[in-house]
Amino acid sequence: MKRTPEPELMQIPSQVRAYAEADFSRSDSMVVKSLEKYLKKVGRTLNQSDLILDMACGPGNIAERIAKNWPSVNVVGIDGSIEMLNEAENKLSENLTKNLSYELIDINSIATGEIDFPDKADVLVSNSALHHFHDPYRFWGALKKLGKTKCIHIHRDLIRPNSIEKTFEIKEKHLPNSPEILKKDFYASLKASFTVDEITQQLIDAGLSQLEVFQVDDLYVEIIGCI
Ligand SMILES: C[S@@+](CC[C@H](N)C(=O)[O-])C[C@H]1O[C@@H](n2cnc3c(N)ncnc32)[C@H](O)[C@@H]1O
Repeated sequence: MKRTPEPELMQIPSQVRAYAEADFSRSDSMVVKSLEKYLKKVGRTLNQSDLILDMACGPGNIAERIAKNWPSVNVVGIDGSIEMLNEAENKLSENLTKNLSYELIDINSIATGEIDFPDKADVLVSNSALHHFHDPYRFWGALKKLGKTKCIHIHRDLIRPNSIEKTFEIKEKHLPNSPEILKKDFYASLKASFTVDEITQQLIDAGLSQLEVFQVDDLYVEIIGCI
């Protein structure tokens, strides 16, 4: 099935609300677990001077989990949607997570050099971000600019199914009782996602082939490594 891109930024208030209210806790916790597992594997610990950037952080669910898990490490969530960041900031004031902040930035502008993000990251994470980019090389390009040498990468995204029928089946399997707007978004995201082979090729083209690509299950792929 051919890829159908969806709008990059999530800005429609009803869409943002539905996304922020949805329970993605199982998948969200996997990002934290993957980072923990990778740190253990390479024998690294994170300390006070380290910076973790959550790319396209949306309502901040994952950034918050990371900030709580590593309370001495500075965590910054970046997103280009003010509507999403409002959701994230609202929770921030409720939860008083002192090591977490947010920046409103279109990640494309980091890739093109229009914006120079001053702080370089020790860890770059993302979830359900890559498939939003009309040009995936903008996403990989921004990551290259943002990471310090030996930066750890943990990225997780949806995999594009190979047919419309399969896309529909996956949508019904994973979101059987969700609000229609969320189902519609999920369906569009599946169609906008990349295959494992496409991601592998993107990493080679972008000079990031040291990162490993793992298919987790029928829904998710993870891209993990240190560059
Ligand atoms: C599906 S949500 C994922 C949010 C979050 N990472 C999570 O897993 O809950 C995708 C997010 O990517 C953001 N996004 C898409 N394109 C972007 C870009 N070019 N620059 C910054 N953020 C972007 C959208 O605004 C949206 O908040």
